[in-house]
Amino acid sequence: MNNYFVIGNPVDHSLSPLIHNYWFKKYKINGTYEKRKLETNDLKGFTEEIRDNKNFKGSNVTVPFKNSIIPFLDELSNVAEETFSVNTIVKENKKLIGHNTDATAFEKTLEENGPWLALKTLIIGAGGVTPSIVWAIRSSNSNKIYITNRTKEKATELVKRLSPGLIGNGVEVLDWGEIPDASLIVNTTSLGLKQNDDLQLDFKKYRNKKDCLFYDLIYNPKETIFLSNAKKRGNYIKNGKMMFLLQAKQAFKLWTNVDPEIDEEILKIVD
Ligand code: ATR
Repeated sequence: MNNYFVIGNPVDHSLSPLIHNYWFKKYKINGTYEKRKLETNDLKGFTEEIRDNKNFKGSNVTVPFKNSIIPFLDELSNVAEETFSVNTIVKENKKLIGHNTDATAFEKTLEENGPWLALKTLIIGAGGVTPSIVWAIRSSNSNKIYITNRTKEKATELVKRLSPGLIGNGVEVLDWGEIPDASLIVNTTSLGLKQNDDLQLDFKKYRNKKDCLFYDLIYNPKETIFLSNAKKRGNYIKNGKMMFLLQAKQAFKLWTNVDPEIDEEILKIVD
């Protein structure tokens, strides 16, 4: 039996076990996938345990460990290195390799909507997932990225860590509340997870703008206030459901070499 995990804190809410266990069954793969709630002090021990466990084949990593897990891994994929973020660990010959399928999943969802969307992008937030979004937008030939974060210094620090390739034609940090013209506006903050959570940013200049997409990485609730306001203004909207499913699909393929289908059953699990 092959063992897989998702590590995080909190991790109770994670839907990843339902998805991966469904795929193991569907594709007749002898695997189990479990949640493990860890503290930061446990990361070293966890990586030692899985390196030596012959049944262990892989793990997902979720908030808040996507960055802090890195020192305990043996190698990183290019994307993980550029985004200093790992959401998937693959064991190859006792080596733990860190990958980032959040970034490649977000990129894929952009392709589905048309890369023109990312010509000018506003990213709201400067947390752990933000470098993955910058990476994906850069891969879609974006010419300008703006970042606005409640704590501006955090955004400035984040931009300093980005490689020249990701900076590209410029990543500009704006004051909190400064809203530029963009065709893609992405909420990467955690604000929206709770009912009545509202960023309180003023997007009235986007009224009736049909050529821009408001994208929230949150998928539960399905429609945050950020998205419902955008819909009322007449903008396109998208939540994080497809990105979440695609990161899982890509992780599953890395572990098993099987490219699983996002079928009706999976869509129901995440609904
Ligand atoms: P991480 O993703 O690294 O775990 P986080 O603490 O979950 O970080 O925060 C993610 C983002 O949500 C940050 O950009 C945070 O802004 P700050 O850097 O100013 O803390 C943003 N965020 C959280 N609550 C917010 C709020 N009430 N208003 C605006 N932004 C908020």
